[in-house]
Amino acid sequence: MTKLLDQLEQYRPLGKFEFTPQAQGRLTRLVGMTLEAVGLNISVGHQCEVIGLDGRRVEAEVVGFAHEKIYLMPIQHVEGLRPGAIVRPLGEHNGMRIGPDLLGRVINGLGQPLDGKGSIGGEDFLDFTPELINPLNRNPISEPLDVGIRAINALLTVGRGQRLGLFAGSGVGKSMLLGMMTRFTTADIVVVGLVGERGREVKEFIDHILGEEGLRRAVVVASPADDAPLMRLRASQLATRVAEYYRDCGKNVLLLMDSLTRYAQAQREISLAIGEPPATKGYPPSVFAKLPQLVERAGNAEAGAGSITAFYTVLTEGDDLQDPIADAARAILDGHVVLSRRLAEEGIYPAIDIEASISRAMPNIVDDTHLKCMQRFKQLLSVYQQNKDLISIGAYTQGADRETDIAIERQPHLRQFVTQGLKDSVPFAASRQQLDQVMMPAMNAGKAAAAANGGVNPQQAKPAVNKPANGGALAAGR
Ligand SMILES: Nc1ncnc2c1ncn2[C@@H]1O[C@H](COP(=O)(O)OP(=O)(O)OP(=O)(O)O)[C@@H](O)[C@H]1O
Ligand SMILES: [Mg+2]
Repeated sequence: MTKLLDQLEQYRPLGKFEFTPQAQGRLTRLVGMTLEAVGLNISVGHQCEVIGLDGRRVEAEVVGFAHEKIYLMPIQHVEGLRPGAIVRPLGEHNGMRIGPDLLGRVINGLGQPLDGKGSIGGEDFLDFTPELINPLNRNPISEPLDVGIRAINALLTVGRGQRLGLFAGSGVGKSMLLGMMTRFTTADIVVVGLVGERGREVKEFIDHILGEEGLRRAVVVASPADDAPLMRLRASQLATRVAEYYRDCGKNVLLLMDSLTRYAQAQREISLAIGEPPATKGYPPSVFAKLPQLVERAGNAEAGAGSITAFYTVLTEGDDLQDPIADAARAILDGHVVLSRRLAEEGIYPAIDIEASISRAMPNIVDDTHLKCMQRFKQLLSVYQQNKDLISIGAYTQGADRETDIAIERQPHLRQFVTQGLKDSVPFAASRQQLDQVMMPAMNAGKAAAAANGGVNPQQAKPAVNKPANGGALAAGR
C-alpha cells in the first residue's frame, strides 16, 4: 500500500495545481422559504452557500433533514435560484472582526455594515457560536444599574445583570423608552437589537430617538420585517453575541432587544416552514425552547468579568398580557415593566404601569427605606385606583377613609414622579432622593394612621373602598 502511495506521489501536481476536494450538493426543491438539497451529509446549524446557475450566491443554514435530504433556510432572498443549483458547505467558523471600531455602527444579522460608513475592522475575531457559562459560576445580581429613568430607577430598580421584559401594545412608547435608556444609562456600552420592526422605524430610531449622542457608545444590529426570518433570528443572536463580547472585555453592557415577540415569530415561520406542527396559538413547541436559549445568554458572567443587563420588548397583541409569548417571557425573565395604553392616552409618558410592573431583583439591591418607599408608593396608587370611580363622580367625601385621603392628596405628586420628559435624564441618586421627597409625607401620615389604629397598618386594617360616603351603593373599580 505504502509502495503504491509512493508511486502515486510522483504524479501529484506541484504547487499551484494543488487543491482540496470539497463536497457539494444539489438543490432539488424550493417551496415557500424552504430549500431541499441532496448530496450533502452535514449537520443542523451548518452554513452553506447556494450558487445559482448565473453565479448568484445565497447563504443558507441547515435547519433539518429527512433521510438523505437536508432542509435549508435562506438568509437572503431566493429569487434567481434554479433546480440543480450547487449547495456548498461553508467553513465551520463563521464570525466577524470586532473591536472598539464597532461602536457607533449599524450592522445586519451577518455583521455587515448597513450605515454606509465602510467596512468594519477590529483586532479580535468574534465567532458567532456562543460559549455557554456555567450558571453556578455566574456572579449574583448585587448592584443597581442606573438607566436614567426616574420611575424605573426608584420604583423598579434594575440590577446589573438582570433581564427584564418591556410589555406593551403597539404604539404605547416602547421604542421611545428604549431610546431614553440608551442615551441616559451609565452602562459602558449599549447594544440595540432592532428585529422585525418596520424598515422606516429603524432609521427613525437611529436618527431621531438615539441621535448622535446615543449612538456614540452603542452598536445597533438591525433586521427589519422584510428580511428573511433566518436573518431576523441571526440579528437577535448577533446582538446578544456582541453584548457577550463586550461583557467578556469587562464592560457593563445594556442590551435592548426590540422585539422578543418578533424573534419568536421569526422562529415560528421557520419551524412551520419545515413542517413542525403548531401547538399554542400557532406557535410550534420549538419557539418556546428557543426563547430561554436567547434570554439566558444575558446576565452576569463569572467574577471579574462584566455584565449584560437586558431589556426585551414583548408585544402584547390587543394589549393582551396572556399572549403565549408574553406568558413564556414573563416566566423566564427577572421582572417586567408594563406600559399602559390608558396612561399613554392620558399623556403620561413614559406610560409605565407601576402597579402591574415588578423588578424581581430589587429587594436584593436596594436598602430597606427605599424598598418601603416603593411599596408605599404602590399601595397609594392602588388605593387611588380602587376608589377612582367614586372620586371622579364626587361620591367620595373627604375624611371617610384616612388611606384614601392620603392617596388623593398624593396622587398628583405620584403622577408627576412617573412623568419624565424625553430629553431629561434622572440619575439614580436623584431618583432615590426625589422618591424620598415625594413619599415622606405619606410615610409619616401612614405611621400616624397606624399609631391611631393601635399599631395596625391602615392598609391591612380595612380596604378604603369598603367605606364609601354614599353608603356603599357604588361598586369601586378601575
Ligand atoms: N416619552 C414620550 N414623550 C412623548 N411622547 C411619547 C413618548 N413616548 C412615546 N410617545 C408617543 O407615542 C408614539 C409611539 O411611541 P413608540 O414609537 O415609542 O411606540 P412603540 O411602542 O415602540 O410602537 P410600535 O409598537 O409601533 O413599535 C410616539 O410617536 C410619540 O408620539
Ligand atoms: Mg417601536
